[in-house]
Amino acid sequence: MGAAAGRRAEDPQETALETTIAYGIVFRQSFGMRQAENGTCSAAESPLALAARLGEQGCAALKADYRSRMGQFLTPPGVAALLAAMFEPAGGEVRLLDAGAGVGALTAAFVEEALGRQRKPRSLHLTAWEAEKEFIGRLELVLERCVEAGRAAGVPTSYVLNHGDMLKDGAALLDEDDLFRGPSQSRGFTHAIMNPPYRKINTDSEARLLLRRAGLETSNLYTGFLWLVARLLEPDGQMVAITPRSFCNGPYFLPFRERFFGLMALERLHVFERRDALFAGDDVLQENLIMYARRSAKRRTSVVLGSSHGLLAKPARSRTVPYSRVMDPADPTRVVHLALDAADDDARRTVMGLSASLVGLGVEVSTGRVVDFRARDFLRKNPGEHTAPLIYPLHLNGGCMHWPSPGSRKANALLAVPETEDLLVPNGVYVLVRRFTAKEERRRVVATVFRPEGNLAAFRSVGFENHLNYFHRKGGALERVLAEGLALYLNSTLVDSYFRQFSGHTQVNAADLRSLRYPSKEQLCRLAASAEAGACDQAAIDGAVDATIRTSRR
Ligand SMILES: C[S@@+](CC[C@H](N)C(=O)[O-])C[C@H]1O[C@@H](n2cnc3c(N)ncnc32)[C@H](O)[C@@H]1O
Repeated sequence: MGAAAGRRAEDPQETALETTIAYGIVFRQSFGMRQAENGTCSAAESPLALAARLGEQGCAALKADYRSRMGQFLTPPGVAALLAAMFEPAGGEVRLLDAGAGVGALTAAFVEEALGRQRKPRSLHLTAWEAEKEFIGRLELVLERCVEAGRAAGVPTSYVLNHGDMLKDGAALLDEDDLFRGPSQSRGFTHAIMNPPYRKINTDSEARLLLRRAGLETSNLYTGFLWLVARLLEPDGQMVAITPRSFCNGPYFLPFRERFFGLMALERLHVFERRDALFAGDDVLQENLIMYARRSAKRRTSVVLGSSHGLLAKPARSRTVPYSRVMDPADPTRVVHLALDAADDDARRTVMGLSASLVGLGVEVSTGRVVDFRARDFLRKNPGEHTAPLIYPLHLNGGCMHWPSPGSRKANALLAVPETEDLLVPNGVYVLVRRFTAKEERRRVVATVFRPEGNLAAFRSVGFENHLNYFHRKGGALERVLAEGLALYLNSTLVDSYFRQFSGHTQVNAADLRSLRYPSKEQLCRLAASAEAGACDQAAIDGAVDATIRTSRR
C-alpha cells in the first residue's frame, strides 16, 4: 500500500488497541480518550462540536491561499448534520468511509446521526483518509470521540485513520482482490460521506494517471474522489457527498457522468442556490449540491429534488420527479437536470418542444479563437493599419457593442497578418455570448449581436477573444435578422430558466448552447421583426419570445 501509512499510537498512556495488518493499514479500536497537543477534550463536547472547534484551529494554522490551493474547505457543522441526515436508517454493521476527512466533521455528524436514531447500527467501523498533516492529530481526536460516543450508546465502534493520499491508496485498494481483511472490514464500505477536495488536475499529473488506472478520465480531483469511493462501496452501499454542481453538465465531466451513473443510482439531489451560503467564511464561488446515491445498477423510478438558499431546516423547494426527468436515458450527453418546480417544468417543456436544433438552422457555435497570451506579439492597444478589431467581453455592455475601449488594460486590436489569419473571422454579423457571467448578473446566458457598423465597419476581419462564444455559419457571418432573433431568444427568461436546470456555474460552454433547442428560422426572423432592434428591456424580450413561440404553436 506504500503511502497509506496508517497513524500509530505514539502516546503510551493511550488506551487504544491497535492491530496492524497486511498492506500497512492500521486498525484501531479505542476504548478511551486522550489529550492531544492541540487542545483538550471536554467530555461534554459532542464529536461534531469537537470537530468544529478543532477544524477552526486546524485552518488557522494553515495559510488561506494554501488551503484554497489544496481544496481545504471544511464543512460547517450544520451542513455536516444535513448530509448525515440524508442516509437511510442503518440497522446492521456499518462500515463508513470518509475520503479527504479534514478533521472529521462529516464522520462525526454521521456517528451522531446514526447513534441518535431509534434504529441504531449493530456496530460502526469508521475509515478516514486525510493527506494534510496539520489535520491528522485533530482528526484522530475526533475519531476517538466518536468511539467514545459509540460506547456510551452501546454500539461497538472502531476506526482506521489513514494519513496518506486517497487517490494513490484508493487506486491501490481497487487493484487488490482481497483488500479488506481487518477486524471489521471483510467487504467494501456500506456508507460513504464526503466533501472531496476541489482542484484541477493536469493531463499528465500522477493523480490523472492513477484515476485513469482506476477507470476514469477526469480533470478534477473531486470527481476522481467520487469515482474511487463509489467503487469502494459494497453493492447497495450508500453515498452522500457535497460537491460543486459543475459535474452535472459540460463535455469535461461527460466521462465521469457516464461511469459514475453507470455504477450509482441517484436517489436525491439538493442544490444550494446561493454559492456562498454554506461556506460563508471561505471564498467558495461554486454552487453546491448534495447528492445521495446507492451503488446499484437498478435505477430508481424517481428522484427527490430539493433546493434552498442556505442552511434551512426544510428545503425551500422539494419534489419527487421521474428519474428520466433528471437524466434522460436518450440523452447522449448524460446531463443532470434539476427542474425544481412547475415553472421549471414549463420552461423545459417549452424549450424541448421547439422545432429546431442549431445544426438544423445551419448555425454553429464556437469558442473565440484568440487566446491573448498566446498571441501576445500581435496584440495592439489601439486599432491601426493592418489590424482587426479584437473583441473581449468588456466590449459588450447592456446588449450593445462598445469598441474600442481606450481606457481598458486589454488590447483592442490584433495585427491582421498571415500568422493571425486562423484567429480571425470575416467581418460581419455574429451573435456573441460571454463564457463567464458575473455572480451578480441576472441571467446566465448574455447574448449580444455583433454588427460591422460605425467604427467597426471599415475592417475586413475581426477577432473574438477566448472568453466569448460566437454563433456563426461555417466560420462566417450570419444573416442579420436571424442573428437578432437568436440573440433575443438567448436573452429570454425562458432560456435562462431552462439553462439553470442543468448548469450551476457561471460558465456557459459552447456545448451547452449547442444542446439547446431553438425556434425555427421563420420564428427567429419573426421574433427579430417584432422586437425593436437592440431592445434590452427584459419584459419586452420575454413578451416577444412568448408571443412568437405561442402564436406558432397554434
Ligand atoms: C473540502 S475538504 C473537506 C474536509 C472534510 N471532509 C470536511 O468536510 O470538513 C477536503 C479534504 O481533503 C483533503 N485532501 C486533499 N487531497 C487529498 C488526497 N489526495 N488524499 C487525502 N486527502 C486529501 C484536504 O486536505 C481536505 O482536508
